This record gives sequence, C-alpha cells and structure tokens, in this order.
Amino acid sequence: MCGIFAYTGDKKAAPILLEGLSLLEYRGYDSAGIYMPDFGVVKTPGAVAELTKRIGDTASDAQSGIAHLRWATHGEPNEVNAHPHADCNNTVFVIHNGIIENFRELRESLEKRGHKFVSETDTEAISHLIEEFLKKDNDFEEAVIGTLQLLRGTYGLLITSTKHPNTIITARMGSPVVIGLGEGENFIASDPTPILKHTKKMVFLSDGDVAIVTPTSHRVRTLTEREIARPSETIEWDVAEASRGGYEHFMMKEIMETPEVIENALRGRLIPGEGLAKLGGLESVKERLKSIDRLIIVGCGSAYYSGLVGEYLIEGFGGIPVEVELASEFRYRKPIISPNTAVLAVSQSGETLDTLEALREAKRQGALILGVVNAVGSTIARETEAGVYNHAGPEIGVASTKAMISQIVVLSLIALFLGRDRNLSEKTGVEFSDALRSLPELVSKVLTTTDAIKAVTEKYKNARDFLYIGRKFSFPVALEGALKLKEVSYVHAEGYGAGEMKHGPLAMIDEHFPTLAIVPNDSVYEKTISNIIEITTRKGPVIAIATEGDTEITKIANDVLYIPKTHEALTPILSIVVLQLFAYHFATEKGLNVDRPRNLAKSVTVE
Ligand code: AGP
Repeated sequence: MCGIFAYTGDKKAAPILLEGLSLLEYRGYDSAGIYMPDFGVVKTPGAVAELTKRIGDTASDAQSGIAHLRWATHGEPNEVNAHPHADCNNTVFVIHNGIIENFRELRESLEKRGHKFVSETDTEAISHLIEEFLKKDNDFEEAVIGTLQLLRGTYGLLITSTKHPNTIITARMGSPVVIGLGEGENFIASDPTPILKHTKKMVFLSDGDVAIVTPTSHRVRTLTEREIARPSETIEWDVAEASRGGYEHFMMKEIMETPEVIENALRGRLIPGEGLAKLGGLESVKERLKSIDRLIIVGCGSAYYSGLVGEYLIEGFGGIPVEVELASEFRYRKPIISPNTAVLAVSQSGETLDTLEALREAKRQGALILGVVNAVGSTIARETEAGVYNHAGPEIGVASTKAMISQIVVLSLIALFLGRDRNLSEKTGVEFSDALRSLPELVSKVLTTTDAIKAVTEKYKNARDFLYIGRKFSFPVALEGALKLKEVSYVHAEGYGAGEMKHGPLAMIDEHFPTLAIVPNDSVYEKTISNIIEITTRKGPVIAIATEGDTEITKIANDVLYIPKTHEALTPILSIVVLQLFAYHFATEKGLNVDRPRNLAKSVTVE
C-alpha cells in the first residue's frame, strides 16, 4: 500500500509534493521518488526526509509533478526499484500503488521487442507498454488506455510525460485514487490526507475510472467511454482523520481493511477449478519441499497463534507433521533438526529479534528456512531461503489485526501448495480454494456486526477477568482473542483449550468471570457445548461466538455473536475478526489509545 501524490497548477510543485509525501508516510515507506518536468527524476531509499535532502532547495520552477512513497511488493526497497519508473526514452513516467499480476509475461514480451528494463518491479512494465503504444499512435491518452486494457491486477496510477508536462493521467483499479479540485490547480493522491490543506473539494474515482487532469480541468472516463460523470464531494476531515481513513483509530481502519487484505493475499495465487495454489516465492524450493518430513513454525505473539492455526491446516491438508514453537523458547532449546526439516518463520514486521534468532539457529542446524512476512525486504525476509509475502500493506496499530488474518490465509495457501503435491485430492483442493475465495465477502458480513459486538462489550465493561475457550481450530482463536483484549484494554484474559476446563480453570468460574466460547458449527461442536454448560451451571456468564442459524446456543449462552457458515478450517478467520472488534470496543469504551497501548511497541527488535 504505497503513497502516491501529484500536483499540476500555478505554484512551484516541489514543496507541495514533498510536504504531501510526508503526510502519507503513515502508509508505509521504504523508498521515495519524484518526477517534475525539466527537473527529471530523483529517487532514494528511506523516507521523505532523504528525498528532500537529495532535492535540496532545488531551483526547479516546475509547476507539476508526481511523487511516490513505496511499500515494496516486488523488488527490494532500493533506489532502482523506487518509483517513478520511465520508458526507454525517459519521456514517460509512471507511479503505481498496487500489484500487476501479469507483469512477468508483459515484461518478457516487451524485452523481446527490445525494451531495456532496469528494475525488478511490476510497475516498470507499464511505462514501457505506454512507450510501445506511442510508437503506433502518438496519442498519449489512447496509449495509456491501450496499456490499461492489458493489465491484470490492481493499480492506482499517476502517469505523465515530457511531451505533456502539465497533464497527469490517473487510473484506479483496486487501489484508491482521489482528485483534489483547486482554483487553477489540481491534486491527485491515494487518499485525501495530502490534499486537505489545499482544497476540500474532491472526486473519488471508482474502479475502472481513468482521469485526465490539468491545472484547470479534469475529465473522468473509462476504458471505453471518453467521458463519464463523477460528482465532487466536500471532505470535512482534518489531516489526522484522513490518514485513518476517517476512522477514529488505525486499529479499526485496519480491521475494516481485512476483506481487501484477504483479496491481496489470494491475488494470483489460486488456480480456479484445479484446487491448486501458485506460490512464486516457494517455486525455488518446490523440489526440496517434497522431501521435507517435518515442519517447525516459529513466531511470537499473534504470529505464533496464526502458526497454531497453520499447524491444523498444514497437517490436515499438507500431509506433513507440524510443530509450532514460541520463537523466544525455540532458540534456547536444543531442537533436533535434520536436513529434511523445514523451519517457517511467521512475522508481520520481519524484524522481531526472537523470531530472527530462532531462524538463525535453525539455519545453523541445516534446516530449510522459510518465511511468511509482511514487510518486503525486512531482515527475516532477507534471511529466509524462500517464502510468501502477505501484501497486507503497512499495519500501524500495535495490535496485529489484518496482518494476522493475512498470515492464516497465506498458511492456508501453503497447506494447499504442499498438499496437492502429496495426497490432497483435486476435489478437496477445489472445495478448500472455493472456501478461501469466499472469505472476503464473509468477513465483510462479520464487519457489519460491529455495533452488535459493541453492545455486548458494554454489558461486560466492569469485568476484570475473561476466559476464552475453544477446541481444534478454535483453540488458537481463544489464545489470540485473549491476547487482543489484554494488549489494548489492559484487562486480564486467558485463552484455554475448552477440553481443559475440568483440569483446573473451572475452579475460577463464578458470576463475575465471563467466558468467551468460540463454538462454530464444526466437528467438535457438541463437546464444546458440554464445556459451556459446565460453566453456565456454575453461574459463569458465557458469550458465544457461533455459526449463523444456530438457535440452540441461545438457550445456553448469555450472549451470542454470530459468524457466517464457512469451511471448518477457515472459521478462525471469521471468529478472530469478531474478537478483534470485541477487544477494540471494550478498550475504546475505557478511553484507551488502542493504536499505541502502554508498554508495547509495534516491532519487538529486542530480546
Ligand atoms: C500482536 O497483536 C502483538 N502486536 C504482538 O504479539 C506481535 O504479534 C508479535 O510481537 C510478533 O510481531 P511480528 O509479527 O512483527 O513478528
């Protein structure tokens, strides 16, 4: 999820663009770049401060330009891969937010026609494609339209050329684009944040829209219609609200992004109708994976809990024995590792020191080292032999929400990838991949219940202790739900296997000790119901997370929060979203800063 920003008007563009980029830094950055007519391109690793230093107090009087903050998806975060990207003649400049799925085939075809690429990015194919179209018909707009018709994937684009210095063409497919309408000047960005200071009059593009923007005009069109109506709106947000997408906290914004995050994790990785997963990041070790007879997953916190869900998934579908280890423990044990052992690190930041050191210990012992990481080019990503990126975009809230869900989706893909190379049937593979594909819609449905969840948290706002219980796929959910509540509301919560109640925890239960019971309609439903009854007969209040249509549970539990029906192995994704919202509402009712909980950091780079 990169930050893009463009200006065309009657003022010096450089200070406007640099200030706008600095307001977009919350969207994540590992490199930055800018193009202005008669000035050219400047790109640099790092944040806007580095770019500003490189540009200095440039004498450029350019009154238009495009600028970019990169959150890498393809290609290391370095100067060559930073945007903008140019064509062979350095006349067309492109900035991109999104993922072009078919860039490899486009690049191969363009290289066969003599185009010279300089970066590893998917984006660079766009600038060379436009150049190719311009050779046939020197119409800049039509060359862009022809290019867009060949792209598969997502994009928020800013495109300009030396021949049309004050014209900026922008296009939206899956990545947000908004146009700010000023007096004698116009702005384009990935969200209103950098525009609000200049104008509150905005046009939000829809998927498929293209807009041709000059200092005094903007025309919105599609790939087939030369002009369509897109009304402007007046946005009253302040800059802080805009960076949170209008939500009060990044945590809520990121929970609400979950459907899109799941789509990004799945994009281009499921082969429809064949029940196969295509994971480019594992292709280089595909043969070696066939001889792997044991997988150890290491992680910390939520990453460890997503690993526990992965254990059920990969043993169930992948046909490989799996252990999940707390990274902070694994590195001090003397783990027995053979050349047929793979160790998979799960980490959102890719910088968690305990996870990194666990990985290094496994590497010293000769294991195959893999990763599921969100931050491209992070230390853990660079020290693995192969892996799968989440493409979840930057996660600002300290509590991991969208990234944790993305980890489970990627682990599901890995289970499918491994299983179909072993004994997993095409039929089972197709069923599971169809269930994965339905997740964004099901999560969207869960998100609509946020007010119902808030109402339940208000009933229990004075509770000081919570128990979370679940069985099988819902056991890691219980652990994660308890962690979410603890870390944003500072209230004690404990996750436990529901089957363990008789072995001790039941002694704690009384009317002041509520339990959240994750009890979807799955293969252990009846057993979990028994555990719930053990609790309610001792006057313990129970909040059940149950499957839509389950009316029996309403006769047993004090409160019920519902999730849509889905494949048993994917219920964790839906129930965890409910518990994320439960923790969010419980903590915000106490007036706590859920984005920056006390004593915690987003990335734990110390032991
Ligand atoms: C989860 O909400 C916490 N922020 C924390 O447990 C986190 O999951 C853990 O520190 C691991 O971080 P990582 O995924 O960046 O390695």
